[in-house]
Amino acid sequence: MNPLDALWEPVRIGPVQTRNRIYLPAHQVSLPPPAYGAYLAERARGGVGLIVTHGFHVHPASARAGVSPWEPAWADAVQAFVQPSKRHGVPVFVQVTHMGASGTRRTDDIDHWGAVMAPSPLPSPVHRAMPKPMEEEDIREVIAGFAATCANVQAGGGDGVEIHGSHGYLVSNFLSPYWNRRDDAWGGDTERRARLALEIGKAVRQRCGSEFVVGIKLSLDEYLGEAGTTPRETVRVVQLLEQARLFDYVCLSHTDYHQNHKLVPPQSSGETAPLAAGAAPVRAALAGRIPLLIQGSVRSIEKAAEIVQRGQSDLVGLVRAHIADPEIVRKAQQGRAEETRRCVGANQGCWRRLGQNVSCTVNPVAGRELQFGAAVVIKPPAGARRVLVIGGGPAGLKFADTAAARGHRVTLWERSGQLGGQIRKAGLLPDYASWNFLVDDLEASVRRRGVEIVLHREATAAAVAAAGADEVVVATGARWQTGGRSMFRTDRDTMAGAELPHVMDVLSALDQLPVCGRRVLIVDDNGDYLPLGLARLLAATGREVTVVTADAMLGHKLEATLDWPWLMPRVTEAGVAMRASTRVDSIAPGHAILSSTLGGAAEALAADTVVLSMQRTSEDALYHQLSARGLPVRRIGDCVAPREVDDAVLEGFREAQATA
Ligand SMILES: Cc1cc2nc3c(=O)[nH]c(=O)nc-3n(C[C@H](O)[C@H](O)[C@H](O)COP(=O)(O)O)c2cc1C
Ligand code: SF4
Repeated sequence: MNPLDALWEPVRIGPVQTRNRIYLPAHQVSLPPPAYGAYLAERARGGVGLIVTHGFHVHPASARAGVSPWEPAWADAVQAFVQPSKRHGVPVFVQVTHMGASGTRRTDDIDHWGAVMAPSPLPSPVHRAMPKPMEEEDIREVIAGFAATCANVQAGGGDGVEIHGSHGYLVSNFLSPYWNRRDDAWGGDTERRARLALEIGKAVRQRCGSEFVVGIKLSLDEYLGEAGTTPRETVRVVQLLEQARLFDYVCLSHTDYHQNHKLVPPQSSGETAPLAAGAAPVRAALAGRIPLLIQGSVRSIEKAAEIVQRGQSDLVGLVRAHIADPEIVRKAQQGRAEETRRCVGANQGCWRRLGQNVSCTVNPVAGRELQFGAAVVIKPPAGARRVLVIGGGPAGLKFADTAAARGHRVTLWERSGQLGGQIRKAGLLPDYASWNFLVDDLEASVRRRGVEIVLHREATAAAVAAAGADEVVVATGARWQTGGRSMFRTDRDTMAGAELPHVMDVLSALDQLPVCGRRVLIVDDNGDYLPLGLARLLAATGREVTVVTADAMLGHKLEATLDWPWLMPRVTEAGVAMRASTRVDSIAPGHAILSSTLGGAAEALAADTVVLSMQRTSEDALYHQLSARGLPVRRIGDCVAPREVDDAVLEGFREAQATA
């Protein structure tokens, strides 16, 4: 028996039947209804068994974000984002939510500026607003808002709703002994804390009837110790909810905003399906009467199958794996799993863009399904062109892959002996190996599509001209500057001493770790992981490493991707000394002169090697030479301006789509 077979069974959820056990859990993508409909439908077409939309607010005291789901007119929007997936035979449940203590004062919407509402006056670390403790009429209004919003979902053709009772939002605030300090009918013991969830369930059932799915998402553990919701408490709540016979399924998630790096853990966390083991007692409490859904860091179909086989859950959800490859299910079903485009787990296109329209580092079509759908625009053979791509980094690979998929005849020249460019260097850093997925998967894809790959090929203007391609695309990337120019030092263009032999750029240091001396000073201007990961590698060999930045904090870019709480303790544990608000005034043999941006006297720090992680310069000389010769040439990626890999992949895709 194929180990994946257990996944391809249908599951009954109330009146609805899913075609398999994989579902797409709720995730905010901030797309207008038609674009959202296309986004979801792409995943439906790709084989997923069930879709749960992202959360929609049930009351103005939660958030408006320009929409009012509690008003009847919203049913039209529901139809627009639900129907396209239903045409693929996939049921769609709509998540309904009130942000409770985790809400904002809605200062973006000045006409509805008001207090955050929660069971008790305790601020959440996300927006740090002190809530108004809800009074009876506030609670009644919110229950009515849930019922009205769910009725609109039903009117718009949604198959069901998922009441958001997790992540530090209102329903979970009421359920939690930490967030709910009331001693009235809505708090005090488990029964009273669960009352809001039950009253919402009743109100929704009254409005929507029994032929409509009503599920609830709960936090297994808030990670607040005995003060908050614990797995034991969740089992008690699940028993209460199940006995009430109001809900058709339970979905398990975890945490509130105190630990939200655990909600969407980056790949650097090393987390894999952290909820699976704890889910079994919850599933036992449901005793097979209603199904359990779990999700969270399930990164492969194989892992989902293992969870089902172990009886830990009835359905398993994959969010980021589906953003990265909407066809992950279909490919597994068809025995084409090796064609899956894997999520690199860096959270750059998805979580970091929360509140902006979604994107994805490895899948630039994500969020643009209305424009591009799954397929690229295929050229008829007569229109095929001979395209020469110079440079095998992410931009060049993505261009080559897309152009070849469109039917063009593509040749790729790469100067080094390996495809992947600087991403391969990121993949060398501790806990960053998953960056290799991006270039491994692109390389496998271009090879499958028959792109002619020529390694160790230095591209000169004469050689490119002689190749006689119909079109040339230059993707030669960028190099690290070695002069020490800093965006924090407008008073100078170079750093005194940067030309000394013991000073090198960050990539050279990564390439030549043994060359580094015993005491290494790393100077960072960018706030990314490269200098910190390098510091960990060097510290692991017994070197004394100090990382400094003139910025107010080190690794500031790691915050928005949720890497910070996972990685920074490991940098500390490695024994790396870190100093923010620190400038390097000059470098001399054996030491550097540092000063604080906050004032005080300059000081000397002993350093046998100084590594500069400063700015980069586009490698655009070849492009300009080819342009000057009048050749049909374009440039993409860092060769245009040094940016992030997301930009490079997007540009490679977009430019290949634009190829005549
Ligand atoms: C961009 C983004 C937005 C999210 N928005 C929601 C949401 O609206 N409601 C919700 O319950 N969970 C939300 N989540 C959490 C996901 O449901 C899920 O728990 C998380 O992504 C971990 O699953 P994964 O490892 O499969 O990505 C969001 C996650 C991401 C990445
Ligand atoms: S942006 Fe990154 S983490 Fe998010 S789905 Fe895409 S590859 Fe995965």
